[in-house]
Amino acid sequence: MTDHVSVLGLGAMGSALADALLKAGYETTVWNRTPGKAGDLVARGAREAGTAGEAVRAGGLVVACLLDHASVHEVFDPLAGELAGRTLVNVTTTSPAQSRELAEWAAKAGIAYLDGGIMAVPHMIGQEGSSILYSGSAEVFETYKPVLDRWGASTYFGEDAGLASLYDLALLAGMYVMFAGFVHGAAMVAPAGVSAREFAAMAKPWLSAMTGGFDGFAEVIDGGDYTVAGQQSLEFSNLNDLVAASADQGISTEVIGMVQTLIRRQIDAGHGAEGFARIFESIRQPA
Ligand SMILES: NC(=O)c1ccc[n+]([C@@H]2O[C@H](COP(=O)([O-])OP(=O)(O)OC[C@H]3O[C@@H](n4cnc5c(N)ncnc54)[C@H](OP(=O)(O)O)[C@@H]3O)[C@@H](O)[C@H]2O)c1
Repeated sequence: MTDHVSVLGLGAMGSALADALLKAGYETTVWNRTPGKAGDLVARGAREAGTAGEAVRAGGLVVACLLDHASVHEVFDPLAGELAGRTLVNVTTTSPAQSRELAEWAAKAGIAYLDGGIMAVPHMIGQEGSSILYSGSAEVFETYKPVLDRWGASTYFGEDAGLASLYDLALLAGMYVMFAGFVHGAAMVAPAGVSAREFAAMAKPWLSAMTGGFDGFAEVIDGGDYTVAGQQSLEFSNLNDLVAASADQGISTEVIGMVQTLIRRQIDAGHGAEGFARIFESIRQPA
């Protein structure tokens, strides 16, 4: 464990992470490429490093919260020698492949590496609802969990450094498709004079209640038997009415049509009597 953490990158997120550490009483060193962003943190007790190397050498855990994969290499490649034998937790957003590449780079340089994906916005850091996903070194996760827990609920997915990022992006994909569904619904009722706010008041409890269906879908998908009794069939929920009503309202049918295409592909392949979870196969095997 450590009582000293260095945070490199003081954008909106890096500043929030450093702030949470200061509040928890950690000795915190901060560095940012462009000077002038550390003022508030220094006022609250942080030490500002003049260079990234100085921040790395300050001792303890090194945390990177930079813009992207390229900026992580730009900052840390020249410091690989200094980082050898130390621990780097990188919460910069990177793709699964980029996270794995960074883990390999770190392993070659003798750096203990943990990759993180932040499921929160800066003001949520350290608050209820903030969740950070990790993968990479189990030892780093276990050792530094008390530090990581200061930012939010910490979940570890395994030694494959790309997994946290994969989960992060999969959860965001789910979120964006749900958001598009909400916006589609709002567009459907708009021509009838219903405001998006009025629609939101109905959509929030409805969509929240519908997440209760995830467990049943997951059981069918994991079981691999889409014929399980008690499911609404794809033929029954072919979405024809929803697509027609959208067209009648004069709006785009792209969002709802996308779901219908996934359903149709399974009906056409002879699986019309099976349940909605079957569209997993349409997604898993691209047309
Ligand atoms: N903000 C969010 O809601 C949120 C949520 C989840 C995850 N994240 C992730 O957290 C990371 C940081 O996000 P942010 O919101 O803090 O972004 P930001 O406010 O735009 O800050 C970006 C940071 O990266 C630094 N940077 C950019 N290119 C650099 C380079 N080549 N070398 C050194 N430093 C460089 C910037 O330094 P300068 O000041 O010198 O430009 C700044 O400190 C991103 O990967 C982001 O995807 C953010």
